Amino acid sequence: MYAPKQVVSNDELAQRGLDTSDEWIRSRTGIARRHLAGDHENTAQMAIAAAHDALQVADADPREIDLIILATVTSNHMMPSTACMVQDALGAIRAGAFDLNAGCSGFVYALSLAQQAIASGEHSLVLVIGAETLSRALNWEDRGTCVLFGDGAGAVLLRATEGPAGIQASVIGSDGSGSNLLIIPAGGSAMPATHDTVDQKLHCIQMNGQEVFRFATTILAQATEQVVTKAGWQMQDVTLIVPHQANLRIIASASKRLKLPVERFVINLEDYGNTSAASIPIALCEAIGAGRIGPGQNIVLVGFGAGLTWGATAIKWSVAPGEAAVPGYRNAWRWLLYRWAKLRSFTRQKLRRTLMLFIRKADHIGRQ
Ligand code: COA
Repeated sequence: MYAPKQVVSNDELAQRGLDTSDEWIRSRTGIARRHLAGDHENTAQMAIAAAHDALQVADADPREIDLIILATVTSNHMMPSTACMVQDALGAIRAGAFDLNAGCSGFVYALSLAQQAIASGEHSLVLVIGAETLSRALNWEDRGTCVLFGDGAGAVLLRATEGPAGIQASVIGSDGSGSNLLIIPAGGSAMPATHDTVDQKLHCIQMNGQEVFRFATTILAQATEQVVTKAGWQMQDVTLIVPHQANLRIIASASKRLKLPVERFVINLEDYGNTSAASIPIALCEAIGAGRIGPGQNIVLVGFGAGLTWGATAIKWSVAPGEAAVPGYRNAWRWLLYRWAKLRSFTRQKLRRTLMLFIRKADHIGRQ
């Protein structure tokens, strides 16, 4: 995972002139601080940093990755997919790459697709990333939204394995009748950028907080129940739930509906706020780091968000924490591969430019 170094507390937001308070934000959301990208950081860079981490933990060779799915609502550009920049930086020369926009459910959607790509026999190593630079899509004068979100990235590698462990079931869903409830209105084909759209801050996130809250409290429990049933488990079999980190009250409500103690949920939104598609992989990483996840456990990842969308994944965990210890020379080898990838990218760009100059010149001479 990767979180920007810059941490901004609720008090600091208030000190910057926003009409809010630490007391209000904490009591309504559970958020105390968030990581915000610096000028030098963006979604691609954070995704690459998280991918480096995942490849190290899995001790995998980037050249063996078949597919890269980057879940995000804050791509570096409208076009191309940020996933292609990740592919280039990693030197994942065999990989197809694309961005997936399913709001805050994006990471769970991507896991579901990755699992199916592997189960079909088409791919055997898939990199799934959730990465967001939401701070660049916020209206910092709108206290109803800007206090909620943060930046960061998390990544996992899915590998084909034999045996009973791994992803047991996934559910995904959507209800586009709620597409206006959480939206960036401008910048797409429906409302291209104009001076007016910029002046009106229509390129920023707009949200109907109460409607989204109502939807979230129901769907978090429902999606969890659905995936648990699909996996053939009972609710009591679930060791840990890693929910999308939007609001403590939403998680508390799901805990009540599911009749599971809140201790069974991973909660880190106090430190990160809502990082959309990155929130579940970041929470997952922290739970692994804290020793809360181990072999044989039944884990549910569950998200909801803009679309409206929702999704849940049931995983029988198989990786022992000790397996993450990778010999130093393997990391040095990967470091060399990344340097090679940079050089490869640079050379290909130069060659492409030289070739174009040559073709243009030949064309010019031909016409003379
Ligand atoms: N600081 C201080 N006051 C604030 C505030 C802030 N940051 N944001 C809103 N308020 C004010 C409102 O202006 C309103 O004031 P008013 O009564 O004078 O009009 C009051 O607080 C209550 O606003 P309301 O929107 O009813 O608050 P709420 O209890 O619904 O909480 C959210 C707002 C956003 C925290 C809550 O609706 C929520 O969490 N929704 C879900 C959001 C979410 O999870 N989105 C991501 C989904 S992926």
